Amino acid sequence: MSTGANRAIWGSKIGFVLAASGSAIGLGNIVFFGANAYRYGGGAFYLPYLTALLVLGLPMMIVELAIGQQERRALPGAMRRTCGKTGEFFAWWSLLNATIIAMYYITILAWSASMMFKSFGPLFADGAASVGSTFGGVLTSWMTVVFTIGIWALNVLFLSKGTRTIEAVVKLFVPLMWVFMLMLVVRGLTLDGGFDGLLYLFTPDFEGIKSPGVWQGACSQIFFSLSLGLGTMTAYASYLPKKSDTVTNAGMVSFLNCSFEFIAGVAIFSILFAFSMHPGQDTGTLGMSLVVVPTGIAQFPAMQTLIAFAFFLLMVVAGLTSSISIIESPVAALQDKFGWSRRKTLALVTIFGAAGSVAFALPQMLTINDQPAQPLGISLLELFDHWAFGYSLLVVGMVEAILIGHIYGIKKLREKINAHSRVKLGAWFDFQIKWVVPVLLGIVLLFNIAEECGLTIEALGISGRGFYIGDSKQTFDGLSAMPIVVFLTWFLITLVGALSITAHKGAQK
Ligand code: TRP
Repeated sequence: MSTGANRAIWGSKIGFVLAASGSAIGLGNIVFFGANAYRYGGGAFYLPYLTALLVLGLPMMIVELAIGQQERRALPGAMRRTCGKTGEFFAWWSLLNATIIAMYYITILAWSASMMFKSFGPLFADGAASVGSTFGGVLTSWMTVVFTIGIWALNVLFLSKGTRTIEAVVKLFVPLMWVFMLMLVVRGLTLDGGFDGLLYLFTPDFEGIKSPGVWQGACSQIFFSLSLGLGTMTAYASYLPKKSDTVTNAGMVSFLNCSFEFIAGVAIFSILFAFSMHPGQDTGTLGMSLVVVPTGIAQFPAMQTLIAFAFFLLMVVAGLTSSISIIESPVAALQDKFGWSRRKTLALVTIFGAAGSVAFALPQMLTINDQPAQPLGISLLELFDHWAFGYSLLVVGMVEAILIGHIYGIKKLREKINAHSRVKLGAWFDFQIKWVVPVLLGIVLLFNIAEECGLTIEALGISGRGFYIGDSKQTFDGLSAMPIVVFLTWFLITLVGALSITAHKGAQK
């Protein structure tokens, strides 16, 4: 069993910061932020987003880093040592969610990688209109399965020697994605009309802020973007020396992530506005970055192929430094718990995970009763995303805050943090974790559930979010039984899995 004493350690402080910011910066910053900011209306999104960063994101980042670093364990071990069995149980539940998110995250990466190779070919052959059909072709091609397995293989390679290989990868990839993104911003803003996108994104819209949906979207976005709620940050922090400065680390990682998100937003919105493209409320999340933005790039005055290639490469590079962190979370936890070798643990997680990723890709290629099953596949992916993004991260965050705040005692944690941090946390931090975070997340979750139940509450003036199957928005009442069955199955599997692992005899002390 790997104990705290002989645990691997990051080669340098910068190695950790690159790895953790590489985890945070990913498809969430490029794909999901743009789509959410659009859906919830630019200037109406940014203020709730910044509020969620300060009120929820930063404090929870500090907590997740602190417990990993102090206990030198991945999430379940760290929660067990701080909060006992209940804590460990919730940690395993969140790690099963992590594995599911890793599955579809990698499917999306495989689609991005396919598009990257297509950008050399006839992606733009018949003018801009062909990007959509190229993506349709990618979705239905068996090559996607090959790409999915290829991306998993890269993840295994990058994780094979733990912190050593992770560090080597992020030292190359993280600077690279900043360079690509900065180039894209400059190109976007210098397009005719590009600047309007900036104005749309950052002109506050005080009317829009009144809708609870915007706040819910902003809270989910912050959790996903900062890699919170899946044990990722705890696993990475467990490889830090005990005396690291948690507050500085949390601040740096959050700052790097949100500034990348900021400029990614500028790049995407300037391209949208330069070509007066209006994806509309109902653009599925993926369509925005895999079709709409590339369609804009296809209309660039010069170097379309090169820029399109760089854009998709950016998604792949940024996504890989995130996917390795999502996978590291359950891998580190299983190693802690059972003392398995890294090779064996990685193999197990990969077999399970890669099967899932292929399952997310497959329905795109099948036909049912001579009808393409594609909408089913997209809806499956979006359905899981809907539950994971809108619920499980927030539930885990809420439970973590309650357990650490009340059971372990946030004051104890804060004193340990302050012993080694340059900026000291005041007593306000205790109140924040004990009350503000759980209550806020609780309210957001209640609103989500209310909306889900079709209390799409015209009466309350709240517009329902629902989720999308193809182009049509689904709410709870209009829904066929299938997605509900899928969700309940998922829930049951994770519950049983978590229970059985928690109950495992070989429990560590
Ligand atoms: N933060 C990453 C992104 O923005 C994705 C990610 C990595 C993540 N680890 C996570 C999301 C843990 C939620 C929880 O793309």
